[in-house]
Amino acid sequence: MNRRDLLGSAVALSAATMSRVSTGRTARKIAPAASAGGAASSAAPISRRIPSSGEEIPVIGLGTSRTFEVGVTAAEREPRRAVLEAFFAGGARLIDTSPMYSTAERVLGELLTPEMHARAFLATKVWTRGARAGIEQMTHSEQLLRAKPLDLIQVHNLLDLDTQLATLREWQAAGRVRYVGVTHYTVGGQADLERVVSRERIDFVQLNYSPVTRAAERRLLPLAAERGVAVLVNRPFEDGGVFVRIRGKPLPALAADLGAASWGQLILKFIAAHPAVTCIIPATASVEHLEDNLAAGRGRLPDAREREAIAAALG
Ligand SMILES: NC(=O)c1ccc[n+]([C@@H]2O[C@H](COP(=O)([O-])OP(=O)(O)OC[C@H]3O[C@@H](n4cnc5c(N)ncnc54)[C@H](OP(=O)(O)O)[C@@H]3O)[C@@H](O)[C@H]2O)c1
Repeated sequence: MNRRDLLGSAVALSAATMSRVSTGRTARKIAPAASAGGAASSAAPISRRIPSSGEEIPVIGLGTSRTFEVGVTAAEREPRRAVLEAFFAGGARLIDTSPMYSTAERVLGELLTPEMHARAFLATKVWTRGARAGIEQMTHSEQLLRAKPLDLIQVHNLLDLDTQLATLREWQAAGRVRYVGVTHYTVGGQADLERVVSRERIDFVQLNYSPVTRAAERRLLPLAAERGVAVLVNRPFEDGGVFVRIRGKPLPALAADLGAASWGQLILKFIAAHPAVTCIIPATASVEHLEDNLAAGRGRLPDAREREAIAAALG
């Protein structure tokens, strides 16, 4: 049984059942989805392989910028707890955060239950200058997220790239982090990402891509595929701006063909259908939106003609 089948069928297993899956790097303990919080959907999420290891992760993940940057009150924490419960119950795994996002790492670390931890693929970043400051920041992230080793640490916006990458390579060799990557969030940053992907041996590149910002299709996405680098997609909804753009627009007819019930699902299906994309990380503090986003990662994805129709419909 491959990893995707394993995750799909895991919902049928008892909560006590745990499976150990060899990833080609560090073995990961994968708890069944249903044990991490409530009822899970019966349809298996679409998964993608991380090229450097062969490990599979569901194509829809979760971002935490702003949405998890909250305080300690129950009114702030409960909606985020509910989002995490729905996320794991839906079979998802990858959560992206950063020390740049004020309280997000702490909030995440405090809300993740041991069962969620067993399934989670936790991605954070290093965002500082200097080797010593980088080590201190990454050590603090391990403590806040209560995860050692962390699954992925990325050099945030390529800040002090060579220094931080050198430390990350040492950590990876020592088994202190499973995967290493880099991020940026603008089209202007993509030429720099291309240089890093061409030159360096990294596991992940995180970039911005959506049906209305398709610059990454020209060089960066094909390059990542060619170099065997996994792709995380940030800002899939243009930081929420895409919903302002399409307010009041009816869904095109092809949405029904794809089993997509919302513009959000159509947008995520467009992105997920690009073969270089490994995981998309939309941010939300709403269970309704989270479930909408997870639904995009099940069922059929658009073909080339349908992708163009989605982009055209967004205008
Ligand atoms: N340099 C970097 O490394 C970098 C830069 C940018 C982003 N990122 C990562 O990428 C993640 C995603 O990017 P982002 O947070 O900038 O923006 P985004 O995911 O494009 O958009 C988030 C916004 O969309 C709304 N939303 C989410 N799902 C929705 C749905 N189904 N229907 C309607 N509205 C929906 C959210 O509001 P609700 O809360 O109301 O759902 C939120 O306002 C970040 O959280 C972060 O983890 C990394």
